[in-house]
Amino acid sequence: PASDPDLVERARAAKEALGEKVFVLGHHYQRDEVIQFADVTGDSFKLARDAAARPEAEYIVFCGVHFMAESADILTAPTQKVILPDLAAGCSMADMARLAQVEDAWDALTDAGVVDAVVPVTYMNSSADIKAFCGRHGGAVCTSSNADVALEWAFAQKPDAEDGAKVLFLPDQHLGRNTAVLKMGFELDDCVVWDPRRPNGGNTVEELRAARVILWKGHCSVHGRFSADVVDELRASIPDVQILVHPECTHEVVLKADLVGSTEFIIKTVEAAPPGSSWAIGTELNLVKRLAARHPEQNITFLDKTVCYCSTMNRIDLPHLVWALESLVGGTEVNVIEVDPETEEQAKVALQRMLDLPG
Ligand code: 13P
Ligand code: SF4
Repeated sequence: PASDPDLVERARAAKEALGEKVFVLGHHYQRDEVIQFADVTGDSFKLARDAAARPEAEYIVFCGVHFMAESADILTAPTQKVILPDLAAGCSMADMARLAQVEDAWDALTDAGVVDAVVPVTYMNSSADIKAFCGRHGGAVCTSSNADVALEWAFAQKPDAEDGAKVLFLPDQHLGRNTAVLKMGFELDDCVVWDPRRPNGGNTVEELRAARVILWKGHCSVHGRFSADVVDELRASIPDVQILVHPECTHEVVLKADLVGSTEFIIKTVEAAPPGSSWAIGTELNLVKRLAARHPEQNITFLDKTVCYCSTMNRIDLPHLVWALESLVGGTEVNVIEVDPETEEQAKVALQRMLDLPG
């Protein structure tokens, strides 16, 4: 549906009144009604860099989810404030790894005698305290656009490990598995899954000793809905269709896809394709619909038969954006995301290791 014209005008007027003081970032999964007010759009890696590159903005209004706003707070100057228009915009995947659980896992890996070989790597989609954990244990953050480079970096951190370094990958088992197996040449047998509800994550000590990649048992419920059967059906019904998916999809789906990458990669791939190309895209629906509307010269299909939005991304709507902006105009800061200084310092170490990666 078209945005409420009154709200559109109020958002426009508030942004104009705030001028350079405010900078609005929009993740690719945001609604159209919100994206139209974003000064920049991007995937989570690009937005982290864009947030850090705006020192003149007093306020960063982050139209995305909580972990992204936290990362922006960590990477911006202490005088800058990051605002998340709806505090309920979390991420169910990020919630699947809690600090106490990760610390218990680290203790268990210590008891199993393998911890000296382990480098923790966390996907951006995690809370600031998990990033801080990685910072203080010699690890790094990665996003879907640099997970392979980050894993290469991590494996190189333990040259003396007798049976090779191990990576503890948090919290998305699919991104971890897809990267380790499809980009780095590990076997599926080199990976074990760590279930935080079971002793030793559900593994024997021997299995942990033999493993090279320890995958936290987390996933994205949105990307988990894409199925290999639908890939087969679409291939049978759309001539020359190319399957383009996000690496949070299951290994089965990614194995059947033609191209895999971050939201930014998905957009650039479609933008660069010749007219008349056919795509079935496996990522959040706001983005796929926007791509289809912007590229009528291509044939773009959603890789699922049902509606599949990220409900927490969708929490940020125009009324919340207007409320956040108008509050600033009126001199009130609402929904400021502030990571505590100790967590921030340690998380910044892990984020900076990612920003320093080549490429
Ligand atoms: P990107 O890093 O590709 O933007 O993905 C973030 C995300 O939350 C995907 O579900
Ligand atoms: Fe989290 Fe999945 Fe939503 Fe991305 S799409 S923010 S991983 S729940």
